Amino acid sequence: MEPRKTLIITGGAGFIGSHLVRLMVEKYPDYHIINLDKLTYAGNLANLKDVQDRPNYTFIKADICDFDVVKEILVSNHVDGIIHLAAESHVDRSIKDPFLFARTNVMGTLSLLQAAREYWEPQGWEDKRFHHVSTDEVYGALEISRPEGDPAGNERGGGPYGDDFFTETTRYSPHSPYSAAKASSDHFVRAYHDTYGMPVVVTNCSNNYGPYQFPEKLIPLFINNIIHRKPLPVYGRGENVRDWLYVEDHARAIDLVFHEGVSGETYNIGGFNEWKNIDLVRLLVKTTDRLLGRSEGADEDLITYVTDRKGHDLRYAIDSTKLKEELGWQPSLQFEEGIEKTVRWYLDNQEWLQGVTSGDYLKYYAEMYNGL
Ligand code: NAD
Ligand code: TYD
Repeated sequence: MEPRKTLIITGGAGFIGSHLVRLMVEKYPDYHIINLDKLTYAGNLANLKDVQDRPNYTFIKADICDFDVVKEILVSNHVDGIIHLAAESHVDRSIKDPFLFARTNVMGTLSLLQAAREYWEPQGWEDKRFHHVSTDEVYGALEISRPEGDPAGNERGGGPYGDDFFTETTRYSPHSPYSAAKASSDHFVRAYHDTYGMPVVVTNCSNNYGPYQFPEKLIPLFINNIIHRKPLPVYGRGENVRDWLYVEDHARAIDLVFHEGVSGETYNIGGFNEWKNIDLVRLLVKTTDRLLGRSEGADEDLITYVTDRKGHDLRYAIDSTKLKEELGWQPSLQFEEGIEKTVRWYLDNQEWLQGVTSGDYLKYYAEMYNGL
């Protein structure tokens, strides 16, 4: 039987990509889902063990920057949709190696766009779609007007730390090499829509958390450190505010926008869930201690204030009203519930954490793919 649709998900072996691949493989048995991933340090096929043998799933190891290879994959598989997540995603790494971020996030996106254009344009754009997955960090940073936070902020139509939000029309103002590269890739995607008529949608999401996140990002890093009673390096005074969303809610939103979003449009995704870093760290300590049977909060003495990140964005807060009103999406989990589920997952999957922190899976790839 011919599949109804053939989709490429780039970066499907990463954190968000693996949740999206799982969702799509399970929800659409008549689609062919191709996971195209280079398997950098952040890509881990162990994230997809439960779906790797499904008949509607294929993994292809490739680099999105490799234009000829990508085009050949599109043509030979008759691909009609792309959901693009492959990227370098960690701000601290981007500060150390901005060129890598320009290569992957900007040139990689451009290579994918051009390959899709060369394959799709001669056939006509009908039934084709390029969904670009981006971040709220492209909008820059917001001020904190209520440093103590006001829990009633959300009910008043603002946030606990300030009344302003990023909306789909907020001017781009990226500060880190990561967000600058993502911003540039967003512009290229929109340029392909405006110039060539490519059917595209763009989503800009807030900070994600949940299972399978690489433990260089705040939440899994700190859970791992609490388990092993290692210091918790809080940047600056821990006053920065982030807006957190459970990763499966993000994957559901991508599915919805990919299928029902209007071509050429942008949709912000977020849970109206702002947390000051230090409060989040205290919640993580309490939850992890409790689930480990330790005295709740005992590990707070691991909190260590360290030199602030360069150019550290103060506050992110995203307005996802458009997605809710136009497509009916809502986050499914309360934050405390999501954090409890997440901490429990890392505690139950310490082998995964151990494998990732030791880099063992990279050795496994080196053998499997002959060092490629
Ligand atoms: P991740 O770092 O966990 O995964 C990235 C994946 O991309 C990895 O599997 C990696 O192997 C792959 N990859 C990297 N370079 C590649 C290349 N040149 N060719 C092919 N594959 C390559 O990232 P994530 O946190 O899952 O983020 C996925 C996407 O979502 C990114 O585009 C990111 O900007 C965006 N995003 C992330 C968040 C977040 O909180 N993590 C929030 C909003 C948007
Ligand atoms: P991170 O998970 O790197 O996401 P992003 O920088 O994309 O928001 O960081 C989340 C917040 O936590 C951010 O304000 C930086 C801060 N942070 C620390 O204080 N210490 C750490 O070790 C890390 C990784 C992050």
